Amino acid sequence: MHGSPTANIQTAVAALARGGLVAFPTETVYGLGADATSDAAVAKVYSAKGRPVFNPLISHVATIDQAFALGQFSNMAQKLAKAFWPGPLTIVVPRAENCPVSLLASAGQSSIAIRVPQHPVALELLRAFAKPVVAPSANRSGRISPTTAEHVQQSLGSDVDLILDGGECAVGLESTVVSFLDNAPRLLRPGGLERHVIETVLGKALAAAPANEIHSPGQLESHYAPRAQLRLNVAEPQNNETYIGFGTYNHGPYSLSRRGDMIEAAAALFAMLHQMDASGIECIAVAPIPNHGLGEAINDRLRRAAAPRLPT
Ligand code: TXA
Ligand code: MG
Repeated sequence: MHGSPTANIQTAVAALARGGLVAFPTETVYGLGADATSDAAVAKVYSAKGRPVFNPLISHVATIDQAFALGQFSNMAQKLAKAFWPGPLTIVVPRAENCPVSLLASAGQSSIAIRVPQHPVALELLRAFAKPVVAPSANRSGRISPTTAEHVQQSLGSDVDLILDGGECAVGLESTVVSFLDNAPRLLRPGGLERHVIETVLGKALAAAPANEIHSPGQLESHYAPRAQLRLNVAEPQNNETYIGFGTYNHGPYSLSRRGDMIEAAAALFAMLHQMDASGIECIAVAPIPNHGLGEAINDRLRRAAAPRLPT
């Protein structure tokens, strides 16, 4: 169901209030939204995603004050929130004592992931609903994150009550996830906000995610898999491979950014993988992508996309 987002906001709010699922655009990727305070609505999200039960969800709110009411923010966590919200940053903190968000959204952990997105349609929806909205990326588990309303339609179709169409997502990569659960702020998932701008505000380096805990199972290896096989860091593709170029490495029509621009590349990545899947391409070779700036998140997603598939 497409149409004018503004005209649809009231319909979307009504659907959320009924415990329904509303897909909506954010600046990163499309989210599959549900009332975060309703166990039944949150359960519906897991079921529509076909998501492993232990993958907790991000609560989205319209304002920083709403966010601060959901979790216990240290001074450092508040500083990051004020510097980057609304924006492509998710902050994981201990749940507030009277946190109204369903425990199911925290997957049984005592922490909560929170984000204020920067997209007019998302913010209008969140303001109108006036309660937190859980929203994983609006794809089925193990598939590529959607950056257009059409992707959502293809991936989740009839399982969604309403899709708000806000065009193409500007960032095109999921939010960067930073946790404040122990002394050291940790980078749980590289994403649309670059590590170094976060570290500049914090005045210190971000620690790595704990290796032995499933804190951020978005990190499951083949989480972002397209149907095609991927080979990375390839300068010269083989005959059976379709090439995804970058910068000066180019063979054929597909390139993340001929100018070698990371922002352009991030915005194009998921849409390009979707398009190649849709045209039945089976073998993809990808150019080397430098690991600086958004390149860290792009390489992270490419490695997952190239990883051996989990049994489904
Ligand atoms: O850009 C985004 O973040 C998009 C848009 C829709 O906001 N959402 C998104 O959600 O990517 P999802 O569910 O696909 O990824 C959420 C990530 C996962 O890696 C999850 O494990 C992590 O956030 N996460 C959520 N709650 C957490 C928690 N309490 N502790 C640690 N990690 C958490
Ligand atoms: Mg996802």
